[in-house]
Amino acid sequence: VTIGAKEAAMATPKGEDQNYLLTVQYKDGSNLASRIGLHAKYGTATENWYEWVASWVDWTNVRDVLEVGCGTGLLWPAINGVLPHPVGLTLTDLSNGMLSEARMRVARLPNVHLVDTEVADAQELPYPDASYDVIIANHMLYHVPDRPKAVAQLRRVLRPDGVLIAATNGLRHMQELMELRAAVLGGPAISEYTTRFGRENGAEILGASFGDIEWHDFPDELRCTDADDVVQYIASMAPLSIGAAQQSALRDAVVARMVDGVLTVTKDSGLFVARG
Ligand SMILES: C[S@@+](CC[C@H](N)C(=O)[O-])C[C@H]1O[C@@H](n2cnc3c(N)ncnc32)[C@H](O)[C@@H]1O
Repeated sequence: VTIGAKEAAMATPKGEDQNYLLTVQYKDGSNLASRIGLHAKYGTATENWYEWVASWVDWTNVRDVLEVGCGTGLLWPAINGVLPHPVGLTLTDLSNGMLSEARMRVARLPNVHLVDTEVADAQELPYPDASYDVIIANHMLYHVPDRPKAVAQLRRVLRPDGVLIAATNGLRHMQELMELRAAVLGGPAISEYTTRFGRENGAEILGASFGDIEWHDFPDELRCTDADDVVQYIASMAPLSIGAAQQSALRDAVVARMVDGVLTVTKDSGLFVARG
């Protein structure tokens, strides 16, 4: 469906609308892959994001792991590489399209034994209390309508001495792209996701269920040299697909913001380690 810029701007925020998440944004892995592509192509980080996430867990005594909102399972090749011994993994996601890609990806990994994969909402986890040593919620809590309810579920299924890794963004994340989107398509110049669960308010939300919470920054910045890649990224965040006129206006705005052929984009990502 193609809609005009005005309609796109006026559409309600979609990031926690579960029908939109399932039928459009995360029907399958393509939108996520196109966004990750920009980070992979233009990121200046010295470390791979998924390897960095894996490095915040001491895997020595870990047996049972749960990932909620696992997407296409991109984290697991990185974790497989650092595991000192095999672990049992349960993968869940709201979207069956994402989960089936994750299943295929993880099936090939020798140190990761897939115990269960379920289409499940993080607000209602179908698992007994104290089942996991590690739980990962990577860039997903901001999609959940009732964050405190989901966090209480994560605490419930985590063992008392277990650890939760919850990755998210801060309010400055992709600021330049938010500004471009707002200038051309309308709407807010801030990510509606990050205001729900981000670097600034995540500790407070987690604090209702966890006693010990630390935030760690992932240092990175994008230096984008192809305006079309940037347009694609912004289009993947729009509520519905945008038309040719908006794409062309976006492209002009991106080119106008480039300095010596480079658009520098702020990244503001990291993770919470929560215990207790
Ligand atoms: C930005 S993607 C992140 C995927 C993966 N964790 C990663 O980092 O590659 C967000 C994922 O959360 C899932 N999701 C959204 N709301 C959810 C919910 N309430 N419960 C479980 N998963 C959810 C989406 O289907 C999507 O796969």
